[in-house]
Amino acid sequence: MITITVSDKAPLKIKSRLYVFILEENFSISSDVQELGKTHGVDIKAVLKEMEFAGKAKQIQVVPLYDEKTVTYAVFAGVGKADKKAIDIEQYRRAIGRVTRKVVSHKCESFVLQAPQAQIFGVNVHELARQTAIILNMAAYHFDEFITDADRKECKVFDVTICVKKQELADFQQGVHEGEIIAQAVNKARHWIDLPANCLTPPHLADKAIDIAKKHKLDITVFNEEQINKMGMGGLAAVSRGSDLECRLAIMEYKTKKKVAPTVAFVGKGITFDSGGLSIKPASNMETMKEDMSGAAAVITTMEALAQLKPDINVIGITPLSENLPSGKATKPGDIVRFYNGKTAEIKNTDAEGRLILADALSYAVKHYKPDAIIDVATLTGSCAYALGPFFTGIFSEHDEMVDRVTHASKTSGDRVWRMPMDADYRPAIKSEVADLCNIGQSRYMAGAVTAAHFLQNFVGDTPWLHCDIAGTAFDVPDLPYYRPGATGAGVRLLIDLAMSWKK
Ligand code: BES
Ligand code: MN
Ligand code: ZN
Repeated sequence: MITITVSDKAPLKIKSRLYVFILEENFSISSDVQELGKTHGVDIKAVLKEMEFAGKAKQIQVVPLYDEKTVTYAVFAGVGKADKKAIDIEQYRRAIGRVTRKVVSHKCESFVLQAPQAQIFGVNVHELARQTAIILNMAAYHFDEFITDADRKECKVFDVTICVKKQELADFQQGVHEGEIIAQAVNKARHWIDLPANCLTPPHLADKAIDIAKKHKLDITVFNEEQINKMGMGGLAAVSRGSDLECRLAIMEYKTKKKVAPTVAFVGKGITFDSGGLSIKPASNMETMKEDMSGAAAVITTMEALAQLKPDINVIGITPLSENLPSGKATKPGDIVRFYNGKTAEIKNTDAEGRLILADALSYAVKHYKPDAIIDVATLTGSCAYALGPFFTGIFSEHDEMVDRVTHASKTSGDRVWRMPMDADYRPAIKSEVADLCNIGQSRYMAGAVTAAHFLQNFVGDTPWLHCDIAGTAFDVPDLPYYRPGATGAGVRLLIDLAMSWKK
């Protein structure tokens, strides 16, 4: 964890070995920076010019300032220039991410950051503060609990003092507080996702949801495999059949104090390991399949954040949890199952398991909560990852209003989405000769991500619904400085901002 202190003192009034400044192109050196140089007999303006640091996006420059005994560092991070509009706040996120990575690699335990002006990025002080806290913590995340070599561990706990103007202090502190709650959710989701499948099993993940519910006084129900079978959740039961571990269905409930408020259900795919089942995956595709519970991790950690941020809506978090493995008991291609809402499907490919467990979870949400909206998050298809790559989550919905809401939350959170088509023309792809549905699309329709979304649509009735396919964005996203190899927490920032901005 990073400890953040917000101060209205000038940076140099705070003793530190490292001072960070965020600069746009055509910057002019502030009096604080000038003074910092002066006290060390260095003309920082001249040094930056010499180093060709121009405040461009991606630029980062460390200037060492020597004393007799110690070295102090001034770090400058560029955010580029505004063209017509303000600079995209994503540039700020990346600059803060880059700075944090740099500091971590220098094994520094504290630094002072001078907050830039919020309006450069077209946001208010509260929002700048929120983003600062989120990104500082996201960039400092490192999955190292199984690394025993101390040299390979990074210092996890460090102090950041952020210097702001006196009149901004209260807003900034509030923004940091919210950002820290969000960052904790993101990093907790990442940690669960990064945990291998021998450590994080369906019962474990359900227990984590129970712990969170107890801690934050959320209602929770967890069904075990026997109950799931009895309830007629044939999809979840079929996927779990090949595994020696039990499946679970966890349902968390956050209730607002408002008397009249909409209810929104978040549903997350929780396959703790996806081997493909009898339709087994090639070894190279299986390597990272511990990530297949990323949707469930996003939903459970979002519930924890919302319990603290307290939006004015009711939120239900539903996570079907299972492994997908081959065995003598495993579901076979050609098997037909009946879901919780009574519909049936022929399982032609046991590797299309996500839609089977989601079908029951979605049906359960509709039947028991009659929600005003449902959003599901799932590492559902390789097809989506191929279509959009690692930077955009695919979103699928016939409800323009839902798309608008999610797109707005995507803009504020930085968790990027791209709308995919859901036209009825694709619907016949998942017809079956022998059941209501087939769990894979016929090959001539291609568009595997779209046909998967159409499969899910059969289980939401008339409820406004939007599906997020995070198969490309959940794990191993390259180049973004606030991510690392491994889990990204895709969906967490999105769901939290969606709930927080939900009105009516
Ligand atoms: N969990 C996978 C999808 C996935 C792929 C997630 C790559 C993350 C990275 C899903 O269960 C799956 O196997 N989907 C199949 C569906 C196919 C059999 C119709 C796929 O995408 O290949
Ligand atoms: Mn699969
Ligand atoms: Zn899967």
